Amino acid sequence: MTTITIIKRDGSSTAVEAQPGVSLMETIRDNGFDELLALCGGCCSCATCHVHIDAATFARLPAPSDDENDLLDSSDHRDALSRLSCQVMISPDLDGAIVTIATED
Ligand code: FES
Repeated sequence: MTTITIIKRDGSSTAVEAQPGVSLMETIRDNGFDELLALCGGCCSCATCHVHIDAATFARLPAPSDDENDLLDSSDHRDALSRLSCQVMISPDLDGAIVTIATED
């Protein structure tokens, strides 16, 4: 079982169970966090699924693709722990992750 804590823009946090094989974006949306817009549906073309991931989990993730990296650069709120949640697949490596929904651009 993979448990992820989601922190909303108002600072409130909720722990959710995540299923392997789906994206982090889908996990967030499927649990009712509609402030994560994910407008392109996971095609890596909108950057509205931007999140910040705790440092320990971030270090375990595969590196972002060039496309993801370029899109993240378009955000005013990118930091060293930024990812596009549609490009992060759920795996046991995410167990215990703390994921903060980024400020909307
Ligand atoms: S949902 Fe559009 S880039 Fe992730």
